[in-house]
Amino acid sequence: MRRPETEVALLEAASATGTKTVESLATELDADPTAVTNAAFELAADGLVEVEAYSAEAVDLTDEGDRYREAGLPELRLYRAAVDAGAEDEAVSIGELVGAAGLEGPEVDIALSNFARKGFGDIEEGAVRVDLAGGPDVDPEDDPEAGALAAIADGNAGYLDGTVLDRLEDRGLASRTETTVRSVTLTDEGVTALMEGIETAETVGALTPELLTSGEWADVEFADYNVEADAETDYGGRKHVLRQTADRVKDVLVGMGFSEMEGPHADAEFWINDCLFMPQDHPARTHWDQFALDVPPMRELPDDLVAAVESAHREGVGADGDGYHSPWTEDVAKGVDLRGHTTSLSMRYLSGEQVGDLDPPQRWFSVEKVYRNDTLDPTHLLEFFQIEGWVMAEELSVRDLMGTFTEFYERFGITDIQFKPHYNPYTEPSFELFGTHPETGEMVEIGNSGIFREEVLGPLGVECDVMAWGLALERLLMLMYGFEDIRDVHGTLCDLDRLRTAEVVH
Ligand code: PHE
Repeated sequence: MRRPETEVALLEAASATGTKTVESLATELDADPTAVTNAAFELAADGLVEVEAYSAEAVDLTDEGDRYREAGLPELRLYRAAVDAGAEDEAVSIGELVGAAGLEGPEVDIALSNFARKGFGDIEEGAVRVDLAGGPDVDPEDDPEAGALAAIADGNAGYLDGTVLDRLEDRGLASRTETTVRSVTLTDEGVTALMEGIETAETVGALTPELLTSGEWADVEFADYNVEADAETDYGGRKHVLRQTADRVKDVLVGMGFSEMEGPHADAEFWINDCLFMPQDHPARTHWDQFALDVPPMRELPDDLVAAVESAHREGVGADGDGYHSPWTEDVAKGVDLRGHTTSLSMRYLSGEQVGDLDPPQRWFSVEKVYRNDTLDPTHLLEFFQIEGWVMAEELSVRDLMGTFTEFYERFGITDIQFKPHYNPYTEPSFELFGTHPETGEMVEIGNSGIFREEVLGPLGVECDVMAWGLALERLLMLMYGFEDIRDVHGTLCDLDRLRTAEVVH
């Protein structure tokens, strides 16, 4: 007789001692349980083994159960602290015992209710008294639930009393799951076959031209199709979680009455910096290092606006304005950079260049990529998505700005936004926004905002108030999903498993 390798190995292993399970055989043969199951079915089909399936129960500790297994059940810790504090003579206050027992948060209630349920003593008026003698069935030092936690951890759950298991399950300390166990027993035919000797046949998965021409096909064993085998998970294409979040942000902003702006990724410094009253000769020309492009300069800029912006830089705007009195040339303004913020789009729209002059009230946004020559670290990449936005109205205050953010972030379940005064050359007042990271508890900067200065709005020809902001989409994602490193989301180091499953709820 000639059979595939796994089947031969399985027959030999099964012959050793009586009945074995597929799992134990797989461990013994160091083979994949699915392959062993299949081999067992093949052998069973030819009457060499008998496979019997029965359901069994697997019992596992939950995380909480495992914690208590190590630290002790809360009620036992309370009991021991009470005994140590002399609570069999005189009642001791719960507060004192909680500290001594090291009980924290919900453990206090858990300890008290189970202490009472198990009859370890009395709890009255905020104080605990233990009954050292215990009732007839009560022995805190030999607690069945504590014993069961240890037994489950040791894999001996099978010997446990069902009611104790029920109790642990109710308490969320253990979980039971049904599993199917298959036993494999050699039949008489199997024994005979083994005695007569079985050759190992080569198993092939597919018929090849080589097998056919060499005639080898006649001697090999063909693997059967196995419709029950674990198939490789095929991940189809799906929208990146960042894109999903961007879409969600767009929906929310459209819902709040905003229209979407669009514009170039590579733009004249004029739109990126000059319109924003950032002096050309200043080291803080940008708050960040922008990528300059080695391309011909922007061919055209609107003359009137260029003149007005230049005058704002040189002489200032309004009665009190003084400008920078610093060099300003159109050549610099025409240099092309990758935009370091999408406030360049806001400038194009506010100036009337993009969609004509705009009358208040207006609300505009974009969720677009920006590029900065930052140092890579867990919160910085060379590019990120900025949620740009602005509101134009006759009169706006800081309250309007904060109210808008509160409303916006609430839609994403973020309700603890904090504001910090900040400096931008183009807004006054200016505020940075912070949120709390759900995993680390650290404050994370999530955006920058303010009310545009006269030096910005004057040249643009805007006569009312405009409040504006730039928020980081990636930081919003970090707060929503607890990502700690932005590189888990973007780029070659990304966490594919998380990206495959993360879903933005609409
Ligand atoms: N451009 C700012 C940034 O990228 C954001 C901002 C936009 C701030 C508009 C105020 C007004 O940080």
